Amino acid sequence: MNLKSALSALLIGATASVGVAYAQTVALKVETDKPGAKIDRQLFGQFAEHLGRGVYEGVWVGPDSPIPNTRGIRNDVVAALKELRVPNVRWPGGCFADEYHWRNGIGPLKDRPATLNPNWGGVIEPNTFGTHEFMDFVQQIGAEAYISVNVGSGTPHEAADWFEYMTTAQPTALAKQRAANGHPEPYGISFMGIGNESWGCGGSMTPEEYAAQLRIYARYTRNYNADHPTLKIAVGPDSANTGYTEAVMKAWKERNWSWDINGLSLHYYTVGAGWPPKFAATGFGEQEYATLINYTLRMNELLATHGAIMDKYDPEKKIALVVDEWGAWLAPTPGSKEGFLEQQNSVRDAIIAALNINIFARHADRVRMANIAQMVNVLQAMILTDQDKLVLTPSYHVFHMYVPFQDATFLPVTFDAGAYANGDIKLPKVDAIAAKGKDGKTWLALTNIDPTAPAHFELTTRAKRAAGKILSAPKIDSVNTFAAPATVAPKSFEARSSGNKIALKLPPHSVAVIALED
Ligand code: AHR
Repeated sequence: MNLKSALSALLIGATASVGVAYAQTVALKVETDKPGAKIDRQLFGQFAEHLGRGVYEGVWVGPDSPIPNTRGIRNDVVAALKELRVPNVRWPGGCFADEYHWRNGIGPLKDRPATLNPNWGGVIEPNTFGTHEFMDFVQQIGAEAYISVNVGSGTPHEAADWFEYMTTAQPTALAKQRAANGHPEPYGISFMGIGNESWGCGGSMTPEEYAAQLRIYARYTRNYNADHPTLKIAVGPDSANTGYTEAVMKAWKERNWSWDINGLSLHYYTVGAGWPPKFAATGFGEQEYATLINYTLRMNELLATHGAIMDKYDPEKKIALVVDEWGAWLAPTPGSKEGFLEQQNSVRDAIIAALNINIFARHADRVRMANIAQMVNVLQAMILTDQDKLVLTPSYHVFHMYVPFQDATFLPVTFDAGAYANGDIKLPKVDAIAAKGKDGKTWLALTNIDPTAPAHFELTTRAKRAAGKILSAPKIDSVNTFAAPATVAPKSFEARSSGNKIALKLPPHSVAVIALED
């Protein structure tokens, strides 16, 4: 042991036992007496678009597949997603939603037309995964349905028919058709997206043009299932652009009795500078790591900016800000099909996931729903599949570790985040959130952003023990593969108190979720 490490060991020991400040120690206190907003479970939503191998292969293999399935839906994927307690799944897109015609996706599988998916590789869309298959899928995983209707190339009539088909209990022609297709009972649809990115792939509309469409779709696309309300979500801003935020919120403020909405969508991807995305998913160095983390932290200012505009029109926060597309969008996996948006998922993605969830939790009074893009085999996925094989990504593990935060009550945490720098990029060294779980326990999520050094937390608490899971990795770009699926996997993590302090050491680039116990 050299002099420097001997001194560090001495200082760390001193911190744990008598609380003397160690230069790198993060003093942490949970303000249990100042509860904040509910961290809505809908913040942990998923997004499944007809894109690449996201739905076909990733979820749907068809009833005749040798891959074990229930009515065509893969059993292994369902089992893994059930563990995440996925609150909602957004479907069928994305850009695909504005070219989707729902009637192609009902009725006997053999009769469904082959159409095209021009957005994503120009491949054939077989329409074998349609409304009934999607509803079967969300029911199998225990999630709620978030359906985006086609505003770009559809009509209000088509969207209205779709919702009548799905939700009415009355014996209309559409309800009879639904019954003939195997589902006499009306479906419950929790969320309706009115278009997708109408400023871009969804029709290149000006904010005012979209507001005009919104009034019509929000009026005529009705939920008829009184036992299961549908919340309507309008298209909102693209990253920092505030035009849609202003126009939609103004339209909402000036609305009459005939229409209403409940949410405004925000899309922000962690891409880095420029387009197309060029940051490699693996084999990257510290500089790329720091750059992407810096970009992901912009989510914080985006929520503050759009939240402030929303406050102007809606001080009571009736309209939720719904971040229904977020995550890392990286360079595609070499050799993967163009337009399929396949990328590996490293411990950096785990840090990105944790930091974004923490940001959402801090804005939980306004941000009440979010959907990571996307669930299987696309962008920052939870799950990667190859034929009958499946691997859980580091992002999956973060979502799993954070389950206790679903519908928990936010508790403020005081701490000095310190600094980690790489070149000109200055980042906080650590991040932390806390919440009172539905189980009555105080939960803490800690992130060590710094990829070069451990983080030493010192928690002041009356609790005797902190126990949970930690996700760490041997390298900054470690991933899980089919051959080595557990390189980045959670391990048990526990520390006991000494006096009224608990010392917690997180290795570089790691995430821990722990409960405080007496
Ligand atoms: O998630 C991929 C695409 O990103 C979605 O289809 C679109 O809404 C966004 O631009």
